[in-house]
Amino acid sequence: MGQVDQKTMTNKVPDHGPKHVAIIMDGNGRWAQMRGKPRLFGHHAGAKRIREIVEACPDQGVKYLTIFAFSTENWKRTQAEVAGLMRLFRAYIQHEARDLFQRGVRVRFIGDRIKLDDKLVSLMDELELLTAGNDRVHLTIALNYGGRDEVTRAAQRLAYEIEMGRLSYKDVDAETLAKFLDTHVLPDPDLVIRTSGEARISNFLLWQSAYAEYEFIDTLWPDFTEAEFARIVGAYGTRDRRFGAVKA
Ligand code: FPP
Repeated sequence: MGQVDQKTMTNKVPDHGPKHVAIIMDGNGRWAQMRGKPRLFGHHAGAKRIREIVEACPDQGVKYLTIFAFSTENWKRTQAEVAGLMRLFRAYIQHEARDLFQRGVRVRFIGDRIKLDDKLVSLMDELELLTAGNDRVHLTIALNYGGRDEVTRAAQRLAYEIEMGRLSYKDVDAETLAKFLDTHVLPDPDLVIRTSGEARISNFLLWQSAYAEYEFIDTLWPDFTEAEFARIVGAYGTRDRRFGAVKA
């Protein structure tokens, strides 16, 4: 829980903290293997962790949380694991939709939906629609997402607009390109956390994280807690972000 302001009796949230936190939820497989269980057991345990972290966001002043659920490279896993993950995404949406709605969470999905099955895509559409009026926390789930793929799709759409004569090549700058990204309605992440000890960004939010701070932690995702999240978010406030400039 955040610190309570004695005068207003409301949670005191540091306004210099990160507004948008993105998480690479890694380590489910190892967590399961350490317990002698199949990898999918770890993914199920990982899915259960999401609720606690979403719920911790308002107390920490985090308005936007973006989580990496399935990458454009994850199709290379065994057919059984991919199928199990797809079943898990469907079940997650079906079981969590009502609760997410009631807790004021606005859910969005980023990534290319073209390779996802129709049933999953319609559940994703329904959840986005159901929660479209919410504003307490903005949860974005990256599903069949890859940063390079996203920028490529954006460039393709931009080229199409030029071909149709609706834009000129002279209009192409960073701001215009960003409008064609899946994340066009979101602010850039301030902080990217990756669990499980790997110090890689694995094609996650490449464009958007140009100035993000990174935090790589050893904890495996199914062991990640609200307390650790709060510690990392709190430590962010002490960092000196200059966005390439020299401090005045
Ligand atoms: C990486 O761990 C994790 C994934 C590829 C899937 C992430 C999915 C979840 C956390 C659960 C489901 C999410 C939703 C939104 C319902 P890994 O398998 O690469 O772990 P390893 O590196 O230990 O093998």
